[in-house]
Parts: sequence; structure tokens; C-alpha cells
Amino acid sequence: KPFIVIMAGGIGSRFWPYSRRKRPKQFLDILGTGRTLLQMTYDRFREIAEPEQFFVITYRKYVHLVKEQLPELEDHQILSEPNHKNTAPCIAYAGYKIHSIQPGATMIITPSDHLIQQEVKFFKAIENAVQAAQTEGRLITIGIKPNRPETGYGYIQYVEGSGKEALKVKTFTEKPNLKLATTFLESGDFVWNSGMFVWKSTSLVHALENHMPDLAEVFHEGMENFGTDKEAEFISKAYTQFKNISVDYGLMEKSPDVYVILGDFTWSDLGSWRSLHEIREKDEEGNVVEGNALLFDTKNSFVRSDSEKLLVVEGLENYLVSESENVLLICPLDGEKRFRQFVTDARKKG
Ligand code: GDD
Ligand code: MG
Repeated sequence: KPFIVIMAGGIGSRFWPYSRRKRPKQFLDILGTGRTLLQMTYDRFREIAEPEQFFVITYRKYVHLVKEQLPELEDHQILSEPNHKNTAPCIAYAGYKIHSIQPGATMIITPSDHLIQQEVKFFKAIENAVQAAQTEGRLITIGIKPNRPETGYGYIQYVEGSGKEALKVKTFTEKPNLKLATTFLESGDFVWNSGMFVWKSTSLVHALENHMPDLAEVFHEGMENFGTDKEAEFISKAYTQFKNISVDYGLMEKSPDVYVILGDFTWSDLGSWRSLHEIREKDEEGNVVEGNALLFDTKNSFVRSDSEKLLVVEGLENYLVSESENVLLICPLDGEKRFRQFVTDARKKG
């Protein structure tokens, strides 16, 4: 039985001001379904796994949100990180933890903030990935056919092969620039990295030892603390030594043992207001409206409010109007490239 590791420690700044540092997007009901993205991720895997197979790894300040939203989990299934160090330390922590419980166990690592439809196809891909991961040493990714030169994803070039087999990966390129992404898309030889990974704990440990030896050494030496009352202390010291780096740069771009299973389910990373607008239900003019709002001559826009305040809008097209707590943001719906800037500057304003 594989372990399911849900990564839920990101800060989701691209959905600011709805997604805030104290409650990022994975903890929000961003699709309006009544369940948050984290809960939807859990529900999806819950179809193929029992509650005790799960681990959720998150930033310490979000632990209470995980407990609140996934009451089925016991405290020891929630791994708490003292700092935001991106996904390499996160995956290493969860990986060594599982390795210490059951060496050689298979684990499925998943982001907590994606939308996946056509679940039957999804489960099939997961099953194939788990199967492929049984070959010692292999790091399995799940690839998605690209439809635009998105620069926020990893691109996987693979050796042609048939159907459900894991295909050998030739190159893995994380977040290419637009020119390179366009070349990749046009060549037809690439798929997007969905951000889900499947491997045996022994394969992960081996890969970390080879490509991220500093990280591996810290865990190798400190692993004996897992499951004891010294775990938190060890982790907080360990994290001060880690670089902030994603698993994509740290491991996937470097390892020669990466394979890909081609997924044919509908997948969205929900990475921007635009992508959310695309999948949400819209009115006749193409607007997504949430909360209290009156629209006049407004098209293809996203208008939302978390407060009681009535938003009255006229004459907007392809715009985002988002009101949350003490912030009101009005910008083009494609303004996402500037989001980091918005957030940084807004924080300076206090
Ligand atoms: N616990 C923990 N700690 N979780 C984290 C951390 C961290 O420090 N940083 C990010 N996460 C979680 C996020 O909440 C998200 O669920 C997941 O890990 C992936 O992080 P993102 O920050 O969203 O990554 P990305 O979208 O830029 O890129 C990754 O996903 C793409 C597909 O969506 C990469 O794997 C790309 O290659 C991939 O294409
Ligand atoms: Mg993401």
C-alpha cells in the first residue's frame, strides 16, 4: 500500500488578495464546491487509500488549518516545517520519515492545489506510476500534454514509447523562459510536469544522496529522531541549514533515473486568476461573480468580494476585481506576472 504525501506549505501568492499568507489557496474553497483544494485532494486519493496512508506536510502556521480541514488525520500524520524552504526539503523530510517507518515503501507525492477531472483516467495513471516505481531507482513523474507555452511549469522531453509504460526522460527543464517554452511546445516532444511524483523511499534516498548530498546527509544523521520527542527540535535545526530550492531544480533536472507516465486526464494547476476564470461557471457575458455585486456592461471579468460590501462595476472587460479583508485589487485579468510585485509592494505599505 503506497503512502500519499500531500504538500500543502506553499503561500499561493498568485491569488492575492484572496489567498493570503495566513490562509493560502490550498485552504480555500476556490472553486466554490464547498470543499477546499486540500480537501478535494484528500477526497480524490481517499478513493484509493485509507486515512492512515496519508501524510500532509505543511508550514507550522498552517498545521491548525490542516487539522481543521482533515479531521480524519491523526497528529503524527501532519508534518510541520519551521520555514518555507520550497519542495526539495519538504519532499526529503516526508521521504526520510516514510523511509524510517517502512524502508522501501512506495510514496505518491502530490501538490494540494490542483484541479483534476476524469478521475478514472487519473487513477489509471496513478496505478501505472505505482507499478513503474517498483523498479528500484526510478523516479516517476506524471506528464500532461501541453496546450500553451506556459512558463510556470516543468517541461519533460521523453523517449517515444507506447501507452501505459513509463517512458525514459531525456531532459527535464523547470520553468523555461517563453522562447524556450514555445520551442518545446512546437516540437511536440514535450509534456508538462504535473508536479506529482511516485517512487520507493529507497529510490528517493539514493537520488538525494547523489544529487543533493548535503540535504541527504542531514536527514541520514538525524533520522533516528523521527517518532521521538526530539523530532521537532531536529527538524528546526535542520531547516536552518537547507537552501530554498524546489525538487524540480534540485533533483528532477539532474537525475538520469527520471521516467514519465503520460496522463490523459484533465488537469489544471489553478495557477492564476485567468486559469480559475476559465474553469468557473460564468454568466452570459462571461463573468464570474462571487459575493455581493452588480455588473453593468462588464464582460469576461472576475468580480469577487469576501465582505458585505456591494461592488458596483461598470464598463470593465477582462478585469479582475477582488476584495478581501483590507485589500481591494483591480487589475487586468492577465496581470498575474505582476502579482509577486503587488504582494511585495503591498506588504511594504503595511
Ligand atoms: N510543505 C511544503 N513546503 N509545501 C510546499 C512548499 C514548502 O516549502 N512550497 C510549495 N509547496 C507546495 C505547494 O503548496 C503546492 O501544493 C506544491 O508544493 C507545488 O509548489 P508550487 O510552488 O505550486 O510549485 P509550482 O507550481 O511553481 O511548480 C511545480 O508544479 C508545476 C505544476 O503545477 C513544479 O513541480 C513544476 O515542474 C510543475 O510543472
Ligand atoms: Mg503550483
